[in-house]
Amino acid sequence: MAACKCGGQAELTQQEKELQELFDQYRGYKGALIPVLQGAQDIYGYLPKEVLEKIAKELGIPFSKVFGVTTFYAQFHMMPRGRNIIRVCLGTACHVRGGAKIFEAVKEHLGVENGETTEDLRFTLETVACIGACGLSPCMMINEDTHGRLVPNAIPDILNKYE
Ligand code: FES
Repeated sequence: MAACKCGGQAELTQQEKELQELFDQYRGYKGALIPVLQGAQDIYGYLPKEVLEKIAKELGIPFSKVFGVTTFYAQFHMMPRGRNIIRVCLGTACHVRGGAKIFEAVKEHLGVENGETTEDLRFTLETVACIGACGLSPCMMINEDTHGRLVPNAIPDILNKYE
C-alpha cells in the first residue's frame, strides 16, 4: 500500500483553508458570528449545515444560536443558489398589472416554486414586494437587470439569455 503523503492529516480543500483563515481572523472577537457567516457564505456560495457546525465549534457558540441567526436573516442561504437570481415583483403596481401571471409563467418554465433553485443551478426564483420600477410594471429582475412591461409569453426568451 502506498504511503500516505499527508502526514496523517487529510489535505484541506481550498474552501476549508479559506474558512480556517476566516476563523483565525475573527477568533476572540465579540460579534464575530455575522461577519463569519457572511465570509463563509462568500466562500461556499451558501451555508451548508456542516459549515454551520464548524462555525459553532470554532466560535464556541451553541449550534442552535448559529442556526437561529442564519435562518433569521434573509441574506443567509442554507441551500445552494442558482447562478442567476430571478426576483419577480408582486408589489401592488405589478400585481394589478398581472404580476401573478408573470410569476406563474416563470415557475412553469423553470419547474420550480418560490424560493427554489433549478437542479442545474442555473436559476433561483424569488419574489419581491417592489423593485422601484412601478412605471414598468409588471416587472422582474434577473441579477442586476430589470425587465419591465412583461407579458407571460415573453418569459422563455428572456430566461434563455441567461446561462
Ligand atoms: S410594485 Fe413592482 S416595481 Fe413597484
